[in-house]
Amino acid sequence: ENQKTVNKVGFSQTGFADDWRKAMNQSMLIQAAFNSNIELNILDGEDSVEKQIKDIDKLIKEKVDVLIVSPVKSKPITPIVEKAYKSGIPVLVVDRKIEGANYTAYIGGDNYQVGADAASYLASVENNESNILEIKGLAGSSPALERSLGFNNIINKTQNLNVVASINSNWESYSIKDSLRDLLKGNKHINYIFAHNDRLALGAWEVLKEKGLQENVKIIGVDGLPGPNGGIQLVQQGILMATMLYPTGGDETMKLVSMILNNEKVSKNNVLKTIVIDSRNAEIMKNQYDKIAQHQLDIESQQERINRQEQTYSTQRNVLRVVLIL
Ligand code: FRU
Repeated sequence: ENQKTVNKVGFSQTGFADDWRKAMNQSMLIQAAFNSNIELNILDGEDSVEKQIKDIDKLIKEKVDVLIVSPVKSKPITPIVEKAYKSGIPVLVVDRKIEGANYTAYIGGDNYQVGADAASYLASVENNESNILEIKGLAGSSPALERSLGFNNIINKTQNLNVVASINSNWESYSIKDSLRDLLKGNKHINYIFAHNDRLALGAWEVLKEKGLQENVKIIGVDGLPGPNGGIQLVQQGILMATMLYPTGGDETMKLVSMILNNEKVSKNNVLKTIVIDSRNAEIMKNQYDKIAQHQLDIESQQERINRQEQTYSTQRNVLRVVLIL
């Protein structure tokens, strides 16, 4: 019989807590399930640099065939990723970046473009003098830096729009609520909020609502996830004015993994597209995702039927064998 080689793929994920990461993990596990010679092991970094360094060290010791990393922060995760790469393990960096060039390939959305597109969108809908509050992602993580650069670069060139305040976060909404409450006590007038993800955007809306200000300030987020409390739904509910789609790239990541395992050449930089989701296209986006989810369920029930048939077949074979022995 043919000996199949099983390739060990280890993924050091930043954390398992939020829906964006859950969606990414799920799409990767589905792709891995289609590929019987890939064994995908996803480790939960718990959004901690220390935990993630331990996780990557573990995957190096296990001698995985491909290492995937989404680094919590760029700088402190760079040395351990370099260690893996220099030991000969192909490294795929996803979503958040490391420093330098010691990795095989990167795949993720263009975060500079995400910020720039959010600003261009604002500039296209607002001609009056307006004040913006920027709510930033975790300092030291590349999407926070790049989203901010892209956003401010366009706003600085737009006469009527001004970023008048910014708040730092750890990507989660609880981390901004007190700062936002304090800011609203001051005399700064805010017309718009650009939040670096939809969880921060929703948190900001909740604080505005406490003060009855939710109609006065319009919010733009990032991620555009389908499902309950996802960005698409928040746009449909009018909680967000818009969200910038930031694809998880789970499917595409697994395709790159297969290419690397087949010794095919991969591009160093693989960019996933972003688009603006607002009231004009939110419903279309939702319908598309619903269809994909339905297809996924169909595939799973087909798979179950096949499994059942295989089971029946092997039972029949055993019965036949027993009959023959008798
Ligand atoms: C999920 C997340 C997203 C954000 C991305 C940036 O963990 O916080 O909301 O777009 O990470 O890396």
